[in-house]
Amino acid sequence: MKTVDEIIEILKSRISEKRLYHSKCVMNSCIELARIYGEDEEKLALVGIAHDNAREMTDDELVNYCNVNNIEIDEDEKTNPVLLHAKVGANIAKVEFGFPENMANAIKYHTVGNVPMDRISEILFISDSISEDRKYDGVDKLRELAKKDIDKTILEIIDSTIELIKSRNKTISENTLKLRKYYSDKINNK
Ligand SMILES: [Fe+2]
Ligand SMILES: [Fe+2]
Repeated sequence: MKTVDEIIEILKSRISEKRLYHSKCVMNSCIELARIYGEDEEKLALVGIAHDNAREMTDDELVNYCNVNNIEIDEDEKTNPVLLHAKVGANIAKVEFGFPENMANAIKYHTVGNVPMDRISEILFISDSISEDRKYDGVDKLRELAKKDIDKTILEIIDSTIELIKSRNKTISENTLKLRKYYSDKINNK
């Protein structure tokens, strides 16, 4: 498996300096949460730095990559191909960076989540929203919550996504609603 430094070198030719900075911030948040929740810091550093490796491919490139590599494109991804950077990035992490399945899956689920997600996936999902480069109302509160309760943090992130979609008068996808139900059930059954 490639090291963080080796992946950074590869990323320099694939994503902008700004996105590389974002990736480093996500990596740092992943490491911090790994420490708090007793996960492997090295694995989380790697998924954090690598998660957006395909984020600057064009829609055509993403769709083409999926066709060539037999990666299925769902309805949401058909309307919004940029979502594919998660699946494509996961495949690149597996093939080029030598990531095992569970680490590649964290990248696969980082944008819209999945039912179920393991701890690595959950930490990456959260870190992408609360990394140091993110600036929006409530981000500090979310950063504090992330240190105490992973499930509640994910629910908060899903709810703000839903609010955003509603404010744009777009339809909320089935997957997002399923994810919301999964985490609210999990919290209520504690
Ligand atoms: Fe992303
Ligand atoms: Fe990201």
